[in-house]
Amino acid sequence: MDAPETLTVNGRAYTLLRLLGKGKGGYTWLAERDGARYALKQIHHEPCDYYQFGDKLAAELRDYETLSALGVPMPRLLDADRAGERLLKELLPGETVYRLALRNAVEPWHWEQVRALSQTLREAGWNIDWFPTNFIPGGDTLYYVDYECNPYMDQWSFENWGARYWSRTPELDAYAKEHGDL
Ligand SMILES: Nc1ncnc2c1ncn2[C@@H]1O[C@H](COP(=O)(O)OP(=O)(O)O)[C@@H](O)[C@H]1O
Ligand SMILES: [Mg+2]
Repeated sequence: MDAPETLTVNGRAYTLLRLLGKGKGGYTWLAERDGARYALKQIHHEPCDYYQFGDKLAAELRDYETLSALGVPMPRLLDADRAGERLLKELLPGETVYRLALRNAVEPWHWEQVRALSQTLREAGWNIDWFPTNFIPGGDTLYYVDYECNPYMDQWSFENWGARYWSRTPELDAYAKEHGDL
């Protein structure tokens, strides 16, 4: 895909400064408008062999509501362009837990907050995507930046799955090598 220079969200143009990340859901850009910065997510439709998708934008909006109601700290959703399948989110300027884990800089309070979140969500019957690229600390709060949630399954819980990537384990190193981050 050629990198676009601007994207509009409901008619307002945003300058794209750089790619923040690409996941199974979309391309998320660092974007700017009138001197303010945002995270702008463009949903993509690239196939993913371990995941089935319906209407991804609608799913993200629904999941955002579900998680907001449960008090999950997330960057605020500022705008949603249904036709363009774009989300405008509050920008969290910090590093992801993935980056922190790679340099052994995940702190005890990050673990405390993610474990508390895991318990709250399990009690409510939900999992989120516990992979550390989806978490960014800001101030004294750990934020979940991806809005996705799924019905709880033990196999994909934080304790059984996500936590394996929150420190320099063989699993994290293998992932990082595969993605050119090590
Ligand atoms: N609000 C945000 N502030 C800063 N970075 C973000 C924000 N939202 C997403 N990102 C970055 O973009 C990446 C991909 O975003 P995410 O919403 O997780 O997309 P996907 O559904 O494709 O995984 C994240 O791993 C993170 O690095
Ligand atoms: Mg993600």
